Amino acid sequence: MSTVISFKNVTKIFARPDGRGDFTAVEHLSFEIDKGEIVAVLGKTGCGKSTMFNIVSGLIEPTSGEARVIGHDPFHEFAFFRGKIGIVFQNDRLMPWRSALDNVRLGLQILDCNPKESEETARAWLRRLGLAGHENDYPHALSGGMRQRVSIARAFAVDPQILLCDEPFSSLDEMTARDLRAEFVRLVRQNDKTAVFVTHQINEAMEIGDRVMVFHRPARIAYEAHLGSMNEEARRKVRDEIMRVLAVEQALAPPPFCQSRELGDQQAGEQRPHEGKETGC
Ligand SMILES: Nc1ncnc2c1ncn2[C@@H]1O[C@H](COP(=O)(O)OP(=O)(O)OP(=O)(O)O)[C@@H](O)[C@H]1O
Ligand SMILES: [Mg+2]
Repeated sequence: MSTVISFKNVTKIFARPDGRGDFTAVEHLSFEIDKGEIVAVLGKTGCGKSTMFNIVSGLIEPTSGEARVIGHDPFHEFAFFRGKIGIVFQNDRLMPWRSALDNVRLGLQILDCNPKESEETARAWLRRLGLAGHENDYPHALSGGMRQRVSIARAFAVDPQILLCDEPFSSLDEMTARDLRAEFVRLVRQNDKTAVFVTHQINEAMEIGDRVMVFHRPARIAYEAHLGSMNEEARRKVRDEIMRVLAVEQALAPPPFCQSRELGDQQAGEQRPHEGKETGC
């Protein structure tokens, strides 16, 4: 198995927005993710999941330690990753002035793909995600689930090696989220991708992941389980253990220093003007 993502002793320290010192969001975090794996990252709000995600996607730089994605430094070699990483965020981040088709086509246009082929690829991905007939619809005319399907189509359309998802289904109703999870896993497997899926829902983590990593704050691995071919009984034990590990943190940890995710996203975005965020690649 080849390693696709590796963190060695990664720490991320932010300056507090109120100017009162520093805040450690990720602390000595080490892990490896192999090609073809789907790893679910689970943890409570504010534990540093999105910070880890932003380091993997090259939006922010670790304070210390080494992050590598396909053997490259995601922050300093940002351009290398064009078309190699597909991102699906919690908010679909579609461009409201572009139709569904044009939103899916965007990443391919940025990669200078042939316009006719790009259109065919975008149409094919919309079809695979059950959106045939909606190619010309604008985001405001689509439901939340449909918009999230468009953003999944957009992420897959550039044929990335890696899919990164940060709570992509958390704003959807459970039935829609379940369908999309199943579809996402099927597409990742069929297309031989590697995926990191951030969530704060135990069910979702266990439905999606071959492996679940549970973070404590500041982001570090408190518990890890390979779900692979586990039977129901073993999965139940893992689930209980995850609940125990999360409860332990609740009992030990001081209240988090929290700011809104929009601020975190915005600040991260400022360091890398819109390219990765809006293209989804
Ligand atoms: N750019 C930033 N500047 C300062 N602090 C930040 C920044 N980004 C994140 N943080 C802080 O780091 C901590 C971890 O934030 P992060 O967004 O990674 O958590 P999370 O696990 O994704 O939470 P959630 O489940 O709510 O999305 C939070 O306390 C947050 O306030
Ligand atoms: Mg987050």
